[in-house]
This record gives sequence, structure tokens and C-alpha cells, in this order.
Amino acid sequence: MGMESKFVWMDGELVPFEKATIHVLTPALHYGAAVFEGIRAYDTPKGPAVFRLTEHIERLFDSALVFGFREMPFTVEQVVAGVKDTVRTNGFKDCYIRPLLYLDHGGWNLNVDVGKARIAIAVWEWGNYLGEEALAKGIRANISSFTRHHPNVLMTKAKIAGNYANSFLAKTESVRLGFEEAIMLDPQGYVAECTGENLFVVRHGKIITPSTAPVLEGITRHTIHTIAQDLGYRIREQPVSRDQLYIADEVFVCGTAAEVIGLSEIDFRKIGDGKSGKVTRAIQDVYHDAIRGRIEKYEEWCEYVDE
Ligand SMILES: Cc1ncc(COP(=O)(O)O)c(C=O)c1O
Repeated sequence: MGMESKFVWMDGELVPFEKATIHVLTPALHYGAAVFEGIRAYDTPKGPAVFRLTEHIERLFDSALVFGFREMPFTVEQVVAGVKDTVRTNGFKDCYIRPLLYLDHGGWNLNVDVGKARIAIAVWEWGNYLGEEALAKGIRANISSFTRHHPNVLMTKAKIAGNYANSFLAKTESVRLGFEEAIMLDPQGYVAECTGENLFVVRHGKIITPSTAPVLEGITRHTIHTIAQDLGYRIREQPVSRDQLYIADEVFVCGTAAEVIGLSEIDFRKIGDGKSGKVTRAIQDVYHDAIRGRIEKYEEWCEYVDE
């Protein structure tokens, strides 16, 4: 995967890609003491637009608050402007955006207050995270042998870098077993989320999804709620069991990186007719138009880079 760009934003300045480096003794690297966001910009009729940018940066600051950072080196508005500058200066139309707020030094005693937070923003061109084929065909998933975090162990509302060691365990196991994504159960044994996506279940024309208590409040999850309701589907938040997935008509997952992807198979059981289902495809189509600024009522989600 080429992650190159011309410039990376480091603490308010755009520096050449090869100069965007940190020391090997940065505590964030050793203890996962960092929080991050995953955002996408898309080409629209009015130029590149970052999808729901302000909400993503607000979540970055919420993640920092959850982790315990008390002093932010920049405001939400400054980071929003930093993202737009980075996309614009690199000249990308469609790209993935990775803001990272990390503990730079002084965290060796495991106390956030002794360290100093720094922010970097990188951008690169990145196609569909789960592969272009996945859009129509769907992907195969397994129920992970690893449990998703208990909110009192590693809090699930925050995109804390260290939390993703759990996702690494699950995803690596899943791919080694021959699947493409892992579904993780919460500590009570109900379906939580995937390693980087929220999950929805369609059965008899109704859509259910786990409540946000044990999972990340996905911004795509919220987008899907709005689109599905506008398409006339009712969505209920409720506990979802593993076997509810097996007997579903459709299961789909969503996230900024993966967008909207159907699951064709879970634990060697075919879901519905074994490809992306009707509801999944209807939502997927609207999502793809919304992110590219082609639907007027959703245009407020597109934050134009050149405005
Ligand atoms: C664990 C987890 N769940 C869900 C999501 C989906 O969130 P979003 O739609 O905001 O990208 C992500 C991706 O950020 C994630 O890492």
C-alpha cells in the first residue's frame, strides 16, 4: 500500500513526507499512548470534500479526553483547518486522512500528565480497505476467539492506539484462518463490532444493530442510520446474538475505511443468498452518492477543502 504524499502536517506545519519522523523512544510507540482518527476525502462536483470532518475531529478530542489528555496543543477548528490544508497541499481528490494525537515525551512513568501531546496529520490515496470485489460479493467473516474490550478495561468510545492491539489479534487470526474480517463479541457474549467496523443485521425487512455501550460510536454507523431511515427502514438498537447473525437475511458492516460491505458468510454459514443483499446494496448505493456530494439533503456532511 503506497502511503506516500508530498507533505505531512506536524504540529501546525506541513513538512516534507520523509521529514515526518519521530524518535524511537517516543512513549506512544511503546505503550500505545495515542489517539487517532480515520477520515476520508472524496472528489465531489465542488472539488474535494472531507466527509463529516468536524465530527471526526470532535471524536479525536473526545478520545483524547477519555485517555486522560488534559492539555490540547490545538483547537478543534485548528485541526479541521490543518486537515483541509494537508489534503489541499498534497493535491489529492480522494484520500484517506489519519490525524494522530500522541504522547511525545515524558510518559515513561505511565502518567499522561508528565508527557506532552503532539498532533500529526497524514494523508494518502487508499482504495476500498476490504477490496473492490467486496462491494458486490461481500466478504467472509468469523467470530473471533478474542473478546472486544470491556469498557472498564480499555474504553470503547475512544480510538486509543493501544486499543487496536485487540483488533490486531482478531484480524490476524481471522486472515490466517482464511477469512477477511473478524466479528468480535462483547464480554457478555453478544455481538459487538468488527476490528474496524460497526455491524448491522437485516431480517424480515427490519434492521437491528448492537447499542453503542460496548462499541465505538461509528460516524458511518450514524450515517447509515439516517440513510436507512430515509429509505423507510426501521432500525432498532438491541443485543445481537451470534446465532442471530447466522439466520439473518443480510449482515453488513460499515466504517470510514471499509465504507458499506455485506457479509456473504460467517463461520462457514452462508448469509442469505451468499452475496451482498438487497437492503445492503440500497444503502451502499446511497452512501456512495452521499460521500461524493451527489445528494443535496446530505450535502452538509461534505466539508469542502476549497471553501
Ligand atoms: C473498532 C471500530 N469500530 C467501528 C469503526 C467505524 O467507525 P467510523 O464509521 O467512525 O469510521 C471503526 C473505525 O474507525 C473502528 O475502529
